[in-house]
Amino acid sequence: MEGTPILNPIARRSEMDSYKLFINGEFVEAANGKTFEAIDPGTEQPMATVAQAGKADAEAAIAAARKAFDSGVWSGLAPSARLAKLQDFADQIAQQGLRLAATESQNAGQIMNLAKFMPLLSIGFARNISLYAATKFPWEEEIPASGNAFGPGREFIRREPIGVCVGIIPWNFPMMMAMWKMIPALAMGNTVVIKPASYTPLTALILAEAAKAAGIPNGVVNVIAGSGGEVGKILCTHPDVDKVAFTGSTAIGREIMRMASSTVKKVTLELGGKSANIILDDADLSLAVEGATYGTFSHQGQICESGTRVLVSSKIYDQFVEMFKKRAEALRVGYQMDPTSHLGPLVSKEQLATVEGYVKTGKEEGAELITGGKRVEVKGIKGGYYYAPTIFVNVKNKMRIAQEEIFGPVVCVIKYDTDEEAVAIANDSIYGLGGGVFSSNTARAERVARGVRTGTMWINNYHIFADFCPFGGYKQSGVGRELGAEGLHEYTQVKRVHVSYVADRNTNMNFSLLSDNKKVEGFGYCCPTAVNAGRGALSSISKSIVDLGSRRALILTDPGVRKAGLADLVKNALADFCVGIYDKIPPDPDLESVDGATDAARELRADCIVSVGGGSVMDTAKGVCVTLKNGGKANDHLNFVVLTEPQTPHIAIPTTAGTGSEVTNVSVLTSKGAGRKLFIVDTRIMPNAAILDPRFTMTLPKEMTVATGMDAMTHAVEAMTSIMSNQICDGQALHAIRLISENLPLVVADGKNEKARLNMQIAATMAGWAFTIAQVGLAHGMAHTAGALHHVPHGAACGIVLPKVMRYNVDHATDKLALVAQALGVNTKGMKEREAALAAADAIEDLMKKVGHPLRFRDVGVPEDGLMMCAFHAIADTADLFNARPVNDPMEVFEIYKQAY
Ligand SMILES: NC(=O)c1ccc[n+]([C@@H]2O[C@H](COP(=O)([O-])OP(=O)(O)OC[C@H]3O[C@@H](n4cnc5c(N)ncnc54)[C@H](O)[C@@H]3O)[C@@H](O)[C@H]2O)c1
Repeated sequence: MEGTPILNPIARRSEMDSYKLFINGEFVEAANGKTFEAIDPGTEQPMATVAQAGKADAEAAIAAARKAFDSGVWSGLAPSARLAKLQDFADQIAQQGLRLAATESQNAGQIMNLAKFMPLLSIGFARNISLYAATKFPWEEEIPASGNAFGPGREFIRREPIGVCVGIIPWNFPMMMAMWKMIPALAMGNTVVIKPASYTPLTALILAEAAKAAGIPNGVVNVIAGSGGEVGKILCTHPDVDKVAFTGSTAIGREIMRMASSTVKKVTLELGGKSANIILDDADLSLAVEGATYGTFSHQGQICESGTRVLVSSKIYDQFVEMFKKRAEALRVGYQMDPTSHLGPLVSKEQLATVEGYVKTGKEEGAELITGGKRVEVKGIKGGYYYAPTIFVNVKNKMRIAQEEIFGPVVCVIKYDTDEEAVAIANDSIYGLGGGVFSSNTARAERVARGVRTGTMWINNYHIFADFCPFGGYKQSGVGRELGAEGLHEYTQVKRVHVSYVADRNTNMNFSLLSDNKKVEGFGYCCPTAVNAGRGALSSISKSIVDLGSRRALILTDPGVRKAGLADLVKNALADFCVGIYDKIPPDPDLESVDGATDAARELRADCIVSVGGGSVMDTAKGVCVTLKNGGKANDHLNFVVLTEPQTPHIAIPTTAGTGSEVTNVSVLTSKGAGRKLFIVDTRIMPNAAILDPRFTMTLPKEMTVATGMDAMTHAVEAMTSIMSNQICDGQALHAIRLISENLPLVVADGKNEKARLNMQIAATMAGWAFTIAQVGLAHGMAHTAGALHHVPHGAACGIVLPKVMRYNVDHATDKLALVAQALGVNTKGMKEREAALAAADAIEDLMKKVGHPLRFRDVGVPEDGLMMCAFHAIADTADLFNARPVNDPMEVFEIYKQAY
């Protein structure tokens, strides 16, 4: 042997150490008394005897881990309490540092120069991961918006330990791999059964001593050495094991997955690789050669993510190969504990035979062996599984030596012409574990790195692991990740907890699915829009802008409203706060209308939207406020109750009689893609302020006054009859109905009747508040459909169907409709409730006639043969969900359309 080993185990030992199994906090012999020998692969001499676990021992270890887990002695601790214990564990590992390093080196064949760092890395890993788990890991997380509008409540998730976690460890880095399995599992509150590889059982058992000395409770850590075939099978199939984490070959990984499937265990697998180390033509050659050398020959190539396919650009190929050969030949192969050795022995006779077999295959396949390809004899030592660093050049990626994992100091050099070709070759593999790119151009290297389908890419480096960076495989290189936050998540279960907002049978909309009683009893009421009403209310606008923290208001309007001079009125009131007027909003706006207005707002850097117009302008403005705040396009934000923050400030100035949209939580937008009207529904989109100034509705043409008045009427009536109706909404709706029935004829007779105009605005606002909470019903579903398919103005369509829908609902909302009749001025004295309810529908029709509202769809351009299609669309409108009478049958809806035709 050249040089003097720091620790010469052969010289040091008079008698062999013996190691026992660690089960339930005790070091014990195997139940059947069996032992085996741990071998020093550098001398082929035994270095320790080890108790060999069998079935009974595996079962005992599992039982101990199960009992410890279920008792809560570890899983029930606060993460900070576990942190304290794991820090003690790290201290104990530190105390065993020299022994661990020497044992690891001698038993695993790891050169001492590498093994001496392993305790240090292990300790750092334990400290980093356990601290992160205790202080930064998201154990509990609130979900601010659940995405289910029909099951309101608090939603949170808890991350909980999985249970008994088995860690099956490979022989290449026995100590570090045991730590990778143990620490995350323990930090997350699990208990573990660790099974080291039969070749290298010792350091895991020393770690068990450290765990015991640290006072980790009995049963939380168990370490059993034994054959993978016998013990592994029990660990992977036992019903009391919840998770198996395995590092090793892909062949065994498949088997483990198969075995674990019988009890559907969670599985993480870190498997084989055939990683590509890509040398670009602009690489610093001396660095790249060093990277290829370190990337393939470290630890004799027995590292899963080794860069065993070195892909070299044809432009630098010859020069690279020459330098690489020289570098490989300068590596010293020697006894692993000799500090001058660069490479130690392979781990076993079997592994040596595998490597020799592949080298033979490579030659037969036509690859050119330029160095190595043979065993090495180390002076002064008889035996030892030493093998020379071996380079094959002119390798074709299809060859077996380029496709199969060899796990030895054998590298394939493959030539390529373009970066794209290099990426394609790298990806032509069943594996995807690691990989490298060497280049002097980082942008180019990153492009290549992005293209490779693999779990890790190093640029101008290799074999760099880090505690907080995830490691794991694409494709057949594995399942799941180790290290980092991702690695910790693999050791937790996720539990979602829903705390219902409603603890009442009659308020739970979902439960009502299986019952005939659809009425929702309980309610919440929150309509945050501030209203300034009355002649001259416009003056309040500049104060509102300042209160909202805004300085740059964009007026949104439509051409008709602008032509009527209303936008300019607002512009003057805004003075310097106005950054522009956008007037391109069409009637019944679609998503593109919102996108156009949003672009204008972005260009003008608007921080506040002032909408001046009817429902079309306001719906657009709501969409703009959401899109401005959240980015992207309107189509990205169509949703129900998902917004968690205030949107761009919005002041609404209605100019119709009206839709009430100035106070509602809904934006109705046509989607050309979906072929129907879609919604944003969210309290966060309600305008911050609404200004009801009658001057703004004086110019509204008569037919619009009528149609929008009937829109407000429909809101109020449907809010009354909705299954979500409640006392507050009823009060608003009834007063709105009264105001509309009295004032609509007045404004039709005289559009300049200021008082009546204001009353209509107030009525529309109240109806809007009512329907925001109580929702609407089938009349809206049918009007939305007629609007989307046949462009019938919303208010007109609402009016046409309203009395028909009231009659359809008569037996499901009799009392409510009777109240509506009274509000409409019907003398219900002496009438039966149902009679009064039907009289309400008649009164609506009388009002429509009086104000000249269209009464039939045929009058507003709906073709008769379009009615059936309307019916099929209408039954899917969200508004129907709240209708007093359940809406399920398209033929019933068709019937109503026909009546309204
Ligand atoms: N979000 C909600 O809560 C809600 C409620 C009901 C309806 N809507 C939606 O509102 C839309 C219908 O809105 P709308 O009925 O108010 O009509 P609108 O906004 O489409 O306006 C119709 C026409 O009237 C003109 N106009 C409006 N005010 C005027 C005025 N004062 N003087 C002169 N011309 C004026 C406009 O220029 C336009 O040409 C539909 O898309 C409907 O889905 C939304």
